[in-house]
Amino acid sequence: MKKRAVMLVALLLAGQGYWAVAQKAKTASDLQIAQKVEALLKKMTLDEKIGQMNQVNGNGAATGPIKANPNDIELLKKGLIGSMLNVNGSANAYQLQKIAVEQTRLRIPLIIGFDVIHGYKTIFPVPLGDAASFDLASIENGARVAATEASVAGVNWTFAPMVDIARDARWGRIMEGAGEDPYYGSLVAAARVRGFQGKSLAEKHSIAACAKHFAAYGAAEAGRDYNLVDISNRTLFEVYLRPFKASVDAGVATFMNSFNDLGGVPATANTLLVKETLKRDWKFDGFVVSDWDSIGEMVVHGSAVDKKDAANQAIANQCDMDMCTNAYVSHLKELVNEGKVSVAQIDDAVRRILTLKYKLGLFDNPFKNCDTELEAKLTMQPAFLDAARDAARKSFVLLKNDKGILPIDARYKSIALVGPLADSKKDMIGTWIGMGDAKDAVTMLTGLKEQLPAGATITYAKGCDVLGDDTSGFVEAIAAAKAADVVVMAIGEAGNMSGEGLSRADITIPGKQVELLNELVKLGKPVVAVVFSGRPLALSNISDKASAILQAWFPGTMAGPALADVIYGKYSPSGKLPATFPRAVGQCPIYYNHKNTGRPTGDPNFQYWSHYIDLPNTPLYPFGFGLSYASFEYSPVKVNKSTLSMKEPIVVSVEVKNSGKVAAEEVVQLYVRDLKGSVTRPVRELKGISKIMLQPGESREVKFTLRSSDLAFYTRDMSFKAEPGDFKVFVGTDSNTNNEASFTLVP
Ligand code: GLC
Repeated sequence: MKKRAVMLVALLLAGQGYWAVAQKAKTASDLQIAQKVEALLKKMTLDEKIGQMNQVNGNGAATGPIKANPNDIELLKKGLIGSMLNVNGSANAYQLQKIAVEQTRLRIPLIIGFDVIHGYKTIFPVPLGDAASFDLASIENGARVAATEASVAGVNWTFAPMVDIARDARWGRIMEGAGEDPYYGSLVAAARVRGFQGKSLAEKHSIAACAKHFAAYGAAEAGRDYNLVDISNRTLFEVYLRPFKASVDAGVATFMNSFNDLGGVPATANTLLVKETLKRDWKFDGFVVSDWDSIGEMVVHGSAVDKKDAANQAIANQCDMDMCTNAYVSHLKELVNEGKVSVAQIDDAVRRILTLKYKLGLFDNPFKNCDTELEAKLTMQPAFLDAARDAARKSFVLLKNDKGILPIDARYKSIALVGPLADSKKDMIGTWIGMGDAKDAVTMLTGLKEQLPAGATITYAKGCDVLGDDTSGFVEAIAAAKAADVVVMAIGEAGNMSGEGLSRADITIPGKQVELLNELVKLGKPVVAVVFSGRPLALSNISDKASAILQAWFPGTMAGPALADVIYGKYSPSGKLPATFPRAVGQCPIYYNHKNTGRPTGDPNFQYWSHYIDLPNTPLYPFGFGLSYASFEYSPVKVNKSTLSMKEPIVVSVEVKNSGKVAAEEVVQLYVRDLKGSVTRPVRELKGISKIMLQPGESREVKFTLRSSDLAFYTRDMSFKAEPGDFKVFVGTDSNTNNEASFTLVP
């Protein structure tokens, strides 16, 4: 009797599951897909259902510690693999899809995932650099180019955008996101989702996106990758979850759990995140994949006794797909038979996975993304290389330019290019390079040579390595500098010193590079430092010495031409910092939208206030900072009325003038400060950006509309709303602007 009752309930639940999906169906095709999914689900055995929840590594390089090497092809033929990652190229993808759709009982196609993070073959600036452009159209286009190349190379799904907020430059993966600000991080997340997914997932060049890593991975204690995260729910929702919500609102198809323990519970099993917030409250209808073996790692964390226990906890938290632990395919059936996991739970996960495969059109044409002919034709086409060059140009941030040393123009007849990153192809593309090939990268030396101004000469000397103590190259470098009018140094981190598992406790420029810079500065000639890094570096030991500093991040395949465009003045640098540059690592985590504390200031002789006795509190370069070859003047900021109501917005405006001699772009930034809340509020919060191009002498009025909804936050009882009260609004060129006005939000 009991078994029959269980079956009846299961049928009802399954029915409910279907109707839940059907109710959410937004279009007729959604409903058709829901019906097809349901019909397929009914035919599937429990083994086949669980197989859809199993993702294994393909023949490409593993992107995590391989823990199990199941006989994948045999598992695939039995219908026990639903997805593969790291399958290189369309030919390999074609072979695997062919097995899936011809040799399995139900012919369900695979969904093939890959880390298309900042380009597939044409590599764009690393994401933190791309974000420094503050040009959302350019950022979206970069994702679109990446999706186009990946979509003909067998990739159906990218594990991007990485939307983790990062406030600590020690954390290597700060390179992969959009920096420290939740507002801007949300805009970038949505732009990247749109770029990858296009207008419809069924389109030829659309690939499913994946918001990762859910959640708060960037708050790893001490900036050490994979370390625990222990933050308040208020900070979690106020800062770290906002870009994820923006990804859901932009229609992101999938999510990925993060590795970290959040408040004592690993994210993969943390019901506050997926089960309660993502799926229940945000009504997310896509699916969630674990990160690489993050299910299995619960045993290592010490929150699961074995993989079976981990699998039970992960499915209880509605993690739908197991990346490379083989926990689901090994233990879920047993858990169902023991009554610990219901068929309804399995069905919910499988329904989500099958729905995406239908949306991508993989049932109609499993080989839609396996197009070797188009792969050869489209990859690295000139238009894509131009887009990458444009994105790189826009990513550079001019941090210093004493006496207008830059751009290098007719004033200089001879250039000495020195430093270990001047002629390094592999370092230009950074990490997470997809199928990018360093040999395709154009180095800074090549770029500067190709665009050398008439009558000028350039001499190159490496001088030293990125790491190590060898100074034997100094002599040649100093000789080259002595013979030149201007010295350009290409220094910083190697491309593989930021990214996953690449945190640093010391964030200064490594090796003997700074020592070489000091020797060159002694020659009394202007020294331009072009800094390559995947994170904010502590540049205090060069900031007073170099005449100019250009933050170049890792610019990608077209590094050289883009650097020449800016260094020779064909394009005025317009980038702004998406993450604060500290004076020293001891200030980390450091970010502009900090709280005031009860003792924010004091005179230097007063002891009892919030400060360091050995450094100022202020960063070396603040969030939003970036110079130009032009100069911009801002009129006093105006508000069209002094009261903002819950229903009626206010308009904030400034007049911006290019008082320089060259055309240039400026990122106009709007910040607010809530002077009093039911909880303490940040001293500044970015609430508007506008990137404008101004010709020399041109002025333009820039307007922002501010609504009460823009001022909402998680109040004392964690309700998300704006509270009436007094505010300041600031509009200027970076987060330090004092161009302010006031307004009051009235009930
Ligand atoms: C890695 C990363 C994740 C990536 C995944 C697949 O460990 O944490 O960002 O998407 O595994 O490569």
